[in-house]
Amino acid sequence: MKVTSKQLRKMWLDFYKERGHVDIGAVSLIGDGTTGVMFNVAGMQPLMPYLLGQAHPEGTRLCNVQGCVRTVDIEEVGDESHFTFFEMMGNWSLGDYFKKEKTKWSFDFLTKVLGFDREKLCTTVFAGNENVERDDEIVEYLLDAGVKKENIFFLEDNWWDLPGTVNTPCGPDNEWFYPRHDNPCGENCNATCECGRWVEIGNDVYMQYKVKEDRSVEPLKNKNVDTGFGFERLLMYINGLTDGYKTDLFTKVLEFIEEKSGKTYGVDKEETKAMRIVADHIRTAVMLIGDRNGIIPSNVGAGYILRRLIRRALRYAKFLGLTKEQLVCVAQIYINEVYNDSYPLLKEKEAYICEELLKEATKFDKTLEQGTREFNKLISNLAKFAPDVKTISGDKAFRLFDTFGFPLELTEEMATEVGYKVEKDGFKKAFELHQEKSKGVMKGEFKSGLADDGEMTTKYHTATHLLNAALKVVLGEKCHQMGSNITAERLRFDFPCDHKMTQEELARVESLVNDWISQELVVTKEEMAKETAVDIGAEHQFIERYPDIVSVYTIGNVSKEICTGPHVANIKDLGHFKIAKEEASSSGVRRIKAVLN
Ligand code: ALA
Repeated sequence: MKVTSKQLRKMWLDFYKERGHVDIGAVSLIGDGTTGVMFNVAGMQPLMPYLLGQAHPEGTRLCNVQGCVRTVDIEEVGDESHFTFFEMMGNWSLGDYFKKEKTKWSFDFLTKVLGFDREKLCTTVFAGNENVERDDEIVEYLLDAGVKKENIFFLEDNWWDLPGTVNTPCGPDNEWFYPRHDNPCGENCNATCECGRWVEIGNDVYMQYKVKEDRSVEPLKNKNVDTGFGFERLLMYINGLTDGYKTDLFTKVLEFIEEKSGKTYGVDKEETKAMRIVADHIRTAVMLIGDRNGIIPSNVGAGYILRRLIRRALRYAKFLGLTKEQLVCVAQIYINEVYNDSYPLLKEKEAYICEELLKEATKFDKTLEQGTREFNKLISNLAKFAPDVKTISGDKAFRLFDTFGFPLELTEEMATEVGYKVEKDGFKKAFELHQEKSKGVMKGEFKSGLADDGEMTTKYHTATHLLNAALKVVLGEKCHQMGSNITAERLRFDFPCDHKMTQEELARVESLVNDWISQELVVTKEEMAKETAVDIGAEHQFIERYPDIVSVYTIGNVSKEICTGPHVANIKDLGHFKIAKEEASSSGVRRIKAVLN
């Protein structure tokens, strides 16, 4: 069977639509700030409120194909089955069907639609722990569905929750495994073996609990199903492949890399690894920059991960003899020939994506050589003068970061290649010291219109950002802060507007702000270069007056402002927002006074 990526997406959606599901489409790859997770790492992430009990407008049976970015194992990329960007084929029951239906549908989709061999298809189920008992019930359903008894294994860690979050849905899961080839590593080479032969292809999570702060669980109102199947991995298997990079998602890119580098994929181990890294990292970079909430490289948060990906791709591209312009060509192949149907926004943003990629690669290209020279000097000095020392100090690593733009991880990777380690804590200390210095500069220069630093003024400060964002929605993007004054009793905000605001406009502003507050959006703070802050569209007033390094406060995906703070950590603490007065301030400038109750 030869199935294209485009066909596989459709097969998944058709299968679940035939079973009463609504295709809800995909959301942005960039986390919206509500969970604190930087990227969308699972199809269930945007569905959190509905898994917790809120009614979904599209009903109780949902499906989609959702792009995800997981960068915890960047270093794993380079083998046949790891990707930083991947698509997850998902379907959900929100308190609708449960184990009986789901086990049968997963089994039928795999064996009847995709042609997986029942003899080899294995599954693991929850073995129980101190909080929740072993899932014996599911075994009955799996057997009824057609899974072979000897292919079912109990595991204690068959449990899924969104890593790093609390008060989020979780539950026991049923993971599906398939062997990459028929040569077991030994007698006990079954689905739980970690020799590399067994690949997880999908996961059915029975989300019926909520995880608490102390990791204990309490039952949810609804018993939900949360399914995620790995698109790249299924595509690999159904085309009889053992290497995910040989699927049609990558063939054109690898052909291009082969042609330009004069090297052949799959011959030399190191060259093959480099080709996969370039192909993977550029794909993810394209998706992150070209996303509807697209980001660009920076030194903090998601932007830093993007920077690491591009810089790492460039380093491996150089190893292959490719230029940075050729990296941009790789991006264009993804945009125009691979994801043109399923991600049409990429085409619209093509020029922008290519420009940002080239800008970052150019920036790094200049210093890569110098930095590498510096690094080599460092190592040869150590070898000569301190042969027993196998560690690069934090200060030295920070200098490579600060002066040559070497992400810590890059220095670590290069160090590993020559048998050295990096003193990570020392790096962190040097980094923090540097940040303290830039913060000190800012405190001296700005007062931010704060009357005092008390709790209420902090709340009003955050509310001011929300008001600014809401006014932009109601009066247009051009609206901005012209003046602000905050006391412990109220906020005051001046902005350009050529008319007295109507009752409807004021009501909309109020309700937007209160809606956001009820969404419990998280406020995050990032330090970055002033230019970067402007580039990513952070609100600002007098850019020439800011220091070189500024703080950017982000509230969910509704507001991003250069600001000295302080702010609340979560806007749920603001209470109820009410506009007390709207009046003229001066010609063409209006003034709002608002209170929090
Ligand atoms: N949320 C589950 C996972 O990511 C399906 O594996």
